[in-house]
Amino acid sequence: MKVFKTVKTIQDYIKLKKCRGSSIGFVPTMGYLHEGHLSLIRRAHKENDISVVSIFVNPTQFGPKEDYKKYPRDFKRDEKLSKQAGADLIFYPKVREIYPEGYRTYVDVKDITGTLCGASRPGHFTGVSTVVAKLFNTVQPDVAYFGQKDAQQAVVIKQMVRDINMDVKIKVMPIVREANGLAMSSRNRYLSAKERIDAPVLYESLKLARRLIKAGVQDVRSIRSQMSRIIRSKGSMRIEYISIVDKDNLKEIKRVKKDALIALAVKVGKTRLIDNIVIKGGI
Ligand code: PAJ
Repeated sequence: MKVFKTVKTIQDYIKLKKCRGSSIGFVPTMGYLHEGHLSLIRRAHKENDISVVSIFVNPTQFGPKEDYKKYPRDFKRDEKLSKQAGADLIFYPKVREIYPEGYRTYVDVKDITGTLCGASRPGHFTGVSTVVAKLFNTVQPDVAYFGQKDAQQAVVIKQMVRDINMDVKIKVMPIVREANGLAMSSRNRYLSAKERIDAPVLYESLKLARRLIKAGVQDVRSIRSQMSRIIRSKGSMRIEYISIVDKDNLKEIKRVKKDALIALAVKVGKTRLIDNIVIKGGI
């Protein structure tokens, strides 16, 4: 497995491989890898000649009061795990490599970035789409793999690719969870012992919503209020949003009739966690 730290060296290497007919699968990450990331890397390895992982904690997607500085980092561990999962190349640039002095260009997907996570994280998705566009131009993947865990991110990236004619196929893979249902996240390491015990209630609330919908409840307000009740039953939870939206355009719906995305963001103590579930065909 090779590690590249500059845009030019990996771009040249991949150009050569593509010339010789190799297909490129790509998994962009911010590192501190867990089973969620590894499931994407394994898939990229399985479906392509060359699998590339990027590890870059992207400053432009963090707000001024967010956890950019303390975001967990452990390159040696990530390198080992990536290799075990079948990665052929790692792109591990410094911030100055991605945003050199005088950097001025941003990719801004409109409308769908102002709701859900975008409502409380202004500028977040501009940072995400900008860095992903740059990474795509660097790695030139045939296929890029994203997790359903960040449902809105996946919708935004698909929109960007469609709108500006990027020649890459986006595949969205299922959420990997701990045995207790908690969605895996690099941020789970911030949780205290007590918060770790309480955090699975987020997935419990999503499963409750699914049961209600299967039992015929369509009214979104009623579903949301029952979800917030069980989340609030655990002490240290502050709900940022619980939204029930169209899974493709992220527009709020009033009654659940076809495919719906139920997404939530909750502060567990000081840690902001997100989770979601897709309800197929309203049942
Ligand atoms: P990061 O949070 O490191 O996630 C990298 C990829 O792993 C994303 O596509 C994310 O959805 C996926 N992922 C995270 N947890 C997962 C889980 N439990 N199950 C399945 N997939 C999971 O998302 C980012 O980084 C950044 O925004 C990035 C796209 C790299 C741009 O900076």
